[in-house]
Formats: sequence, C-alpha cells, structure tokens
Amino acid sequence: MKACGSLEGALAGLHVVIDAGPTYEDIDPVRFLGNRSSGKMGFAVADAAAQAGADVTLIAGPVHLPTPPGIERRVDVRSALQMRDAVMRAVEGADIFIAAAAVADWRVADYSARKIKKGPTGTPVLELVENPDILAEVAARDPRPFVVGFAAETDHVAEHAREKLVRKKLDLLAANRVDETVGIGADDNALDLIWPGGGESLPHTSKAELAKALVARIAAHYHARRHA
Ligand code: CTP
Repeated sequence: MKACGSLEGALAGLHVVIDAGPTYEDIDPVRFLGNRSSGKMGFAVADAAAQAGADVTLIAGPVHLPTPPGIERRVDVRSALQMRDAVMRAVEGADIFIAAAAVADWRVADYSARKIKKGPTGTPVLELVENPDILAEVAARDPRPFVVGFAAETDHVAEHAREKLVRKKLDLLAANRVDETVGIGADDNALDLIWPGGGESLPHTSKAELAKALVARIAAHYHARRHA
C-alpha cells in the first residue's frame, strides 16, 4: 500500500469518475435555479487524481474552468438529470466514484418552453420536484465502485456528515463548513474526512493542495480495502 500522503502512482491503472460543479435547473428558456458552486474543488480533485496516475472521467456541470491536463474524458452537462445519466454511464466498471458536484436538490415540475411573462395572472408559483440522489444511486449499485461523497454544511458539521455517510452508504466522506465567506467559490478550504469507524482533519490550505491530500487518502483507503 502507498504511504499516506504520497500521490505518485497511487491510483495507477484505476478508472476514477468525478462529478463537479453546480447543476442548473431550467425554469424557462431564460431562467434557471442554480447554486454558488464554482467547480474548483472537483476540478482540483480531478487534477490530483490524474497526477496520481488514474484514468479520469470528469463530469462537469456549468462551470468556467479549463480541463486539467491528463484528464482522459470530460462530459459537460447542465441539469441534475443530465449529470445522473452521464455518471451512471461512466461508473459502469469504474473503480472509484467521487461526488464533488453541488447537485441541485430540486428541479421545477413543469419547464415552460415559452418565457414566463409578467401579467394579470400575478406572481408565478414554482412547483418543485426532488432530483435523484446521484451519489446514493451509485452507492446502491452492485457491484459498486469505492464511493466518496462531499458534504457542505453550515452547522453541526460532524453530526450531519456522519449521518450522511451512513444514510448514503459511503466509503469515505469529505465534509466542509460553508458560509458566505468560506467553502463555496473560495480558493482555499479545509476538510474533515470521515469513514466508517474513523476520521481525520485535513487543515486549511489551497484547494489544489487539499485535493492532493484528499486523493492520497482516498488511494490509501481504497488499497487498504482491496487488501483487507
Ligand atoms: N449529491 C448527489 N445528488 C444529489 C444531491 C447530492 O449526488 N441529488 C451528492 C453531492 O455530490 C455530495 C453529497 O451528495 O457528494 C452531499 O450533498 P449535500 O447537498 O450536502 O447533501 P444532501 O443529500 O442534499 O443533504 P442535505 O441537503 O440534507 O444536506
């Protein structure tokens, strides 16, 4: 097994699928529901996984980021349903799935093909329906890849993260605190890693450095599991 922290060759020969960025849920041809995810963390993880020798498939929501060098395949999507289709196709036979995307929890029930106009009928009321949980769906597959989730929390980070690890049946979860100033969209971050039976904190640093540390830990856990 590779030493914890060592990246070189740590994922050689493995197919790693990563989703990243937000999803946009269209309301009509000019409006959508979105979120503040920049995709930077997911892209940094994809970059680090490629540096670790993985064959990487990156499924990207609407972001303004160049593809990191060494990424074999990038699939651009817009909505949660498109992201789910792309992920389900990509994870077939994959070794590791890392869900770094900020998937919209809801989409509008009825997309309007025509622009919704102001008028005498008053303010529109949007009915929302829940999007599929891509991470939980991948974790429910049999056979399944080694599954890594993210959790962005504003409060009670440790409790919410451990609950998410169990509920979604994850192998590893990377939790971070977000508010108006840290986490989403920022260039640096800190992560609490948790897995069934343990946990570890990765201190505050640039997303590039944090992604390398995270990928080294993912590789160590993956190989430990395989040789258990
Ligand atoms: N996720 C996903 N599909 C969704 C929602 C979330 O794949 N429809 C994944 C994210 O990519 C992330 C993890 O689930 O890896 C946690 O997402 P988060 O939004 O924090 O959790 P939720 O399950 O939506 O829980 P809650 O909104 O209650 O915090």
